[in-house]
Amino acid sequence: EQRHRLVVLGSGRVGKTCLLQCLLNNKFIEAYRPTVEDLHCKTFVYNGGVISVDILDTAGNLEFPAMRRLSISTAQAFLLVFVLGNKESFEEVKNLWNQIQEQKSNINDLPRVIAANKCDLATESYRLIAMEEPLEWARQYGLSDALVEVSAKTGENVKTLFR
Ligand code: GTP
Repeated sequence: EQRHRLVVLGSGRVGKTCLLQCLLNNKFIEAYRPTVEDLHCKTFVYNGGVISVDILDTAGNLEFPAMRRLSISTAQAFLLVFVLGNKESFEEVKNLWNQIQEQKSNINDLPRVIAANKCDLATESYRLIAMEEPLEWARQYGLSDALVEVSAKTGENVKTLFR
């Protein structure tokens, strides 16, 4: 059995907890409760093998640089979340990616995904425009394959994201 630690990072209210609830319990919660820190465990069957993943849900709003540094250093996989069309939350993804690159010399060998969440709130044409900047940034950093539009509310692409 392989064991991995995935850390979920991103601004407050972007939907980190909801994405995990969608994955783990197939449910969506409208009410907002800030996370301090939660650890979940999920077993995936992948490529015929069993992979256990410890998933760390972090606080978006509380700025504890030391805590964030620790959560990055202990992780072997990264999920960064922003809200489609919300500039500040995308700026935070860029900051986080810079910090991850500084701390993880082997980042190119580690799984990393970037979720543009709440895509249920946007029309198809708005989605196209809102994804332009993230797509361009992702190209520059070699992350084109890592960027996924998702919705924790409808469940769109959530399974794909974690796979
Ligand atoms: P912090 O704990 O502060 O870091 O927040 P978070 O990133 O964990 O956000 P959370 O999952 O608590 O969701 C914040 C709010 O956004 C909640 O009111 C959710 O119902 C809502 N929300 C989350 N995902 C979606 C989504 O895909 N679509 C819509 N429409 N709302 C969402």
